Amino acid sequence: VTAQGRATVFLCGPRAGGNSDTAGLAFAAGLERAGLDPLVIRLREHEVEPCRGCGACAAGPGHRCPLEGDEAEGLFTSLAAAPVAAFASPIYFYHLPARFKAFIDRSQRHYERRLARQAAGAPLPPPRQAHALLVAGRREGRQLFTGALLTLRYFLWPFFLKLAEDPCLLRGRDAPGDLAADAQAVAAIVARGEAAGERG
Ligand SMILES: Cc1cc2nc3c(=O)[nH]c(=O)nc-3n(C[C@H](O)[C@H](O)[C@H](O)COP(=O)(O)O)c2cc1C
Repeated sequence: VTAQGRATVFLCGPRAGGNSDTAGLAFAAGLERAGLDPLVIRLREHEVEPCRGCGACAAGPGHRCPLEGDEAEGLFTSLAAAPVAAFASPIYFYHLPARFKAFIDRSQRHYERRLARQAAGAPLPPPRQAHALLVAGRREGRQLFTGALLTLRYFLWPFFLKLAEDPCLLRGRDAPGDLAADAQAVAAIVARGEAAGERG
C-alpha cells in the first residue's frame, strides 16, 4: 500500500444523479476546496463479478482471484493507494446495494493478504481515514445504517483504512432530487469533505 494515490470517492448507487451521487459529489467538491484532486469512481460503470467463494485466494503466495479479468482489482488499486477515501451509497433493504456488495465481497483476496502479512510479522502502514455517506428513504429505523456501517468497517480493514467515527447518515431522502434540494445539507457535506481533505 502506498499513500501516493489520489483521494478517492466511490459513488455506489445504481441511480445516476440520485441522492448518494449528490452526497459523494459534494464531498468531492469539499476535497477540492482543501486542495486535493479527487478521483470519483462510479461503481455502476464498472464490471464487477460476484465472488464465487472458491477459496483460491486463501492460498498464497499471490492470493490470486480467478475472476481478475474484470474491473474489481483496478478499483482496489485506487483504494489501496488513496490517502483518503469516501463511499456514498443508498441503503437498500437495510444494507448496501448489490453491485457495491459484490465489490466488497471481491476484496476477500485483500483480507487474505493482510492476514498473511500480519502472520509473517511484516510491518503495517499507519491507518488512513475513510468516510461513509449513507442515504436512506425512510425517516424511521433505529438500525437503518447498522449493517452497512459494520460491513464497511471490516471491508476497509485490509486496506488500512479506518472508518471515521462521525459518518454522514441522511434519512428521509427518497426521490432522486431530495438531497440536492436541501442546500444546507449539501453545504454541510462539502464542509465535511473539506475537513477530511485538510486532515487527510
Ligand atoms: C431496492 C431498494 C431498497 C430500498 N431499501 C430501503 C431501506 O431498507 N430503507 C430505507 O430507508 N430506504 C430504502 N430505499 C430507499 C433509498 O434508500 C432511497 O430512495 C435513496 O435516496 C436512494 O439513493 P439514490 O438516490 O442515490 O439512488 C430502498 C430503495 C430501493 C430501490
